[in-house]
Parts: sequence; structure tokens; C-alpha cells
Amino acid sequence: MSGMGPWLVANWKMNGRIGDLEAWSRIRLDQLNTGIGRVVVCPPALLLHPLATALADTGLELGAQDCHAQASGAYTGNVSAEQLAEAGAQMVIVGHSERRGPHRETDAVVREKATAALRARLEPIVCVGETLSEREGGLTKAVVAAQATGSLPLGCEQATIAYEPVWAIGSGRIPQADDIARAVAAIRDAVHTAGTALRVLYGGSVSAETISDLLRIEGVDGVLVGGAALSPEGLSGLLKAAPYGSKEPSSLDSVLGAA
Ligand code: PGA
Repeated sequence: MSGMGPWLVANWKMNGRIGDLEAWSRIRLDQLNTGIGRVVVCPPALLLHPLATALADTGLELGAQDCHAQASGAYTGNVSAEQLAEAGAQMVIVGHSERRGPHRETDAVVREKATAALRARLEPIVCVGETLSEREGGLTKAVVAAQATGSLPLGCEQATIAYEPVWAIGSGRIPQADDIARAVAAIRDAVHTAGTALRVLYGGSVSAETISDLLRIEGVDGVLVGGAALSPEGLSGLLKAAPYGSKEPSSLDSVLGAA
């Protein structure tokens, strides 16, 4: 699977039913004339295994949402990274604001989960983002830089971070392009000093109307999409709206020599 071109990662959150999956099997990524390099669908854990079968001929990849730091044990209601990998996931989203907020996950907890993902040979997508009050207090760059360095696994050589302003998620509100570029640059600066090759996705109210402009922002290597990618039609609309070949391969692609 090529790593070239921007990524589109679809986060279903707690949506999707078994009966919905057949419709996903009819997507053919190569017929959608898209410049997107990887398209990853992240359903609830229960749907991973059946969706893996449904996606077999589509060109779409499978990811998961959240994992426990331990591989197994007495952790009622949790799922391990190893279990997600066995069910067919190649990636896992950790540190989403819907985990950091209501579940009180700290940077240290997110780092443990991201480290567990690597142990299970999953690619972690580590989410960071400021709240509205942090933004209004002028703290955006400091918050996202601290979350990024505090949440990534120690010593990792490559990583994916999703910059998701908490106030932009599900709200229909998106920061100005300059603001996104500045926050992404702050994340890149903070992580660069740790020597990690970084891919940065933007997330928060991405839609077919906005995806093209968002993917043109300096430093943005892809998008993490919730509501707009819950149906095959929604995903197809996003892919068709994405710019084709508009950006040079990111510096990460050359670092990794992806082909
Ligand atoms: P949204 O969600 O696209 O519905 O705003 C994005 C996310 O929370 O990952």
C-alpha cells in the first residue's frame, strides 16, 4: 500500500451497524480518481472483523478507535491493541478529545496506548487539539506542542498526529487556514526536536466543501473525518472533492522512501 499522497481517515465513533456494511463492499477506490494516498475506515471494534471482509476488494484500509495499554488481562470492557490487530486493523486512533475529555485520559495515558499500538504492529494516530477557552487564551500552540511531545511513544522514528481543535469537532466550525498552519507548525517544531518523522492530519468538521482547501494548507498531510464519512456516499463525495495531485509528496514520504 502506497504511503504517497494525503491520507483520509474516517472515524465512525459509536456509529454503524452490521446491516450497513454490505454497502461499503461496493466502493472501488481506484475508480474514484482521487489523489488520496490511503483511505482508512475506523469503525467500532465490534465491526472490525465483518468490515475487514466487506472491504476486501475496495482498496480501503481498516483502523480502530482506542485501545488499552495492556495486551490482555482483567480490564473489563476494554480491548487491546493486539485484539484490534487480529480483527484486521492496521491503525488505531488514540488520544481523541472524546477520550481525553470524558474519560480523563492524560498525555501519559495516551502515550501508553500509542506505545501499545506499536507493540501490536498497529500505526497509532495520536490526536491533539486545544479547547475553545485555551484558544481564546492564546494557548493553542503551547497546548498542542505539549500534547504532541507528551503523547507520542518515546523514541519513535515516525508518527502520525491528528490536529483536531476540540471546538471544531462536530460543530461545523473550522479554524482559518493560517491558524491551522500555525498550529501544525508548532506541532512539527515540537516533535522535530525529538527527531521523529511526522505526518500531520487535520480533523474537525471536514466536509466535501472544505476538504480541498484543507489539504492545500502547508504542513497538512491528510484529514481525519467524522460525520462526513459515515456512509459510503459521504466518503465517495469527500474523495471526489479532494484535490488530485495538488501537492508535492510530503517531506515524510521522502524520509520514508515510500513508493
Ligand atoms: P467531525 O469529527 O468530522 O464530525 O467533526 C472529527 C473527529 O472527531 O475525528
